[in-house]
Amino acid sequence: MDSYKKLLLANKAWVVDKLSVHPDYFSRQAEHQKPEFMWIGCSDSRVPAEDITGTEPGELFVHRNIANLVIHTDFNVLSVLQYAVEVLKVKHVIVCGHYNCGGIKNSMTHHDFGLINQWLRHIKDIYNHNAAELAAITDPQARADRFVEINVAQQVRNVAETSTIQKAWYNEQRPIIHGWVYDLRTGYIKEIATLEPGSKLDGIYEFDFSDKFEPYAPPASEPVA
Ligand code: CO
Repeated sequence: MDSYKKLLLANKAWVVDKLSVHPDYFSRQAEHQKPEFMWIGCSDSRVPAEDITGTEPGELFVHRNIANLVIHTDFNVLSVLQYAVEVLKVKHVIVCGHYNCGGIKNSMTHHDFGLINQWLRHIKDIYNHNAAELAAITDPQARADRFVEINVAQQVRNVAETSTIQKAWYNEQRPIIHGWVYDLRTGYIKEIATLEPGSKLDGIYEFDFSDKFEPYAPPASEPVA
């Protein structure tokens, strides 16, 4: 049997299983979603968000990419975040990395991966900012593990530095941003970082929503480009 057909067969068995417990399982689900959590995870097949957190369909609003990055020019993650915060009104945003992450490990090499170089570049920049701490760790596995944690902590700050989050903190005192790392070797999740609503951010990244912005107008004597 073609391997993909197993998935369709498993789907049929899953429907039967769900309906045997709750006959209205799907009719209830079809109406709307009201997840309490947004999940930003790695695309890695070994980190299934719902399985490792014991959650059901309807509980997690999920975005996944290589190495669970939150890039401030990535419309994909920013759109998912805005929808989660402003429409679904999630109470928690969870960034979950994982040890033995291929994106993290490969960003620590000098290998040319083609297009993916541009994505890994974001991770390399974080490595560079933390080069002293990471270079002091002699064991390669321990260094990669630590870098996974540093990356998650940075992505938590990246989430908090968006205007979407700061506006929600300012107006509604939510969501809480969590940084977690999943350990493939044990199955356990480790908490790395938490940012509560109103947490102080690094100076220039803070938005002032009471600020009435006036566009910069050059003085009359200044040549207009
Ligand atoms: Co990964």
